[in-house]
Amino acid sequence: MSAPVPLIAGNWKMHGLSASLDEARAIALGCKDVSPRVVICPPSVLVHRMAQALANEPVEIGGQDAHWDDFGAFTGDVSAAMLADAGARLVILGHSERRTGYRETDEIVAKKVLAALRAGLEPIVCVGETLDERKAGRALEVVTGQVRASLPAELADKPFAVAYEPVWAIGTGLTPTIAEIEEMHRAIRASLVEKFGDHGRGMPILYGGSVKPNNAAEILKADEVGGALVGGASLKASDFLAIVQAA
Ligand code: PGA
Repeated sequence: MSAPVPLIAGNWKMHGLSASLDEARAIALGCKDVSPRVVICPPSVLVHRMAQALANEPVEIGGQDAHWDDFGAFTGDVSAAMLADAGARLVILGHSERRTGYRETDEIVAKKVLAALRAGLEPIVCVGETLDERKAGRALEVVTGQVRASLPAELADKPFAVAYEPVWAIGTGLTPTIAEIEEMHRAIRASLVEKFGDHGRGMPILYGGSVKPNNAAEILKADEVGGALVGGASLKASDFLAIVQAA
């Protein structure tokens, strides 16, 4: 089976105003002849305008989270159906900032994945261990447990991605060694194959956590690394494009 096309996704988190659409246009301009699939996930209020601004560009738009219901009395929330309606094609789910800050469990993440599928969105499901869990030698067990419990059986014939993001590497400038990344990505692959058979062999496993222009090439060529989920370095077109070009 040929390797999946690398996926490079930028997670803008709670950054970006109208003026940031120019940065997104600059990213799109640099993506004309690149091989990876490139995605920008802006704050939800920018999804529609960014999707329109980049409608004819080789960059897809994603959300950063979505509710598990399609509509309802959930003040302040945004549903997957709304993101899709606004022009998103993908959605990040289960980011550690949601799991920790908003107490999202694997069960909630799995319900959100189902909502994404109903809306026709491709989920990027995040998993990752804390520093305490790694120090206790539990990283593999924690992460493969998250993979098993956050990915519902309904993904068996749908495109999706898993993003391995060690919590301690997010926004810290710290990264695991290449050997640690490969060990984890192989374990995630084994869990995906166990759960989804051949389909699980073809889905990209992204690495995320302090991916920068100076470490992207080494990380992206590691075994079973099928792309990157990039936070801070996705906010500046020149940095993000350097990462895209390293893939
Ligand atoms: P970072 O964030 O690249 O700023 O570490 C990654 C993420 O949280 O997705």
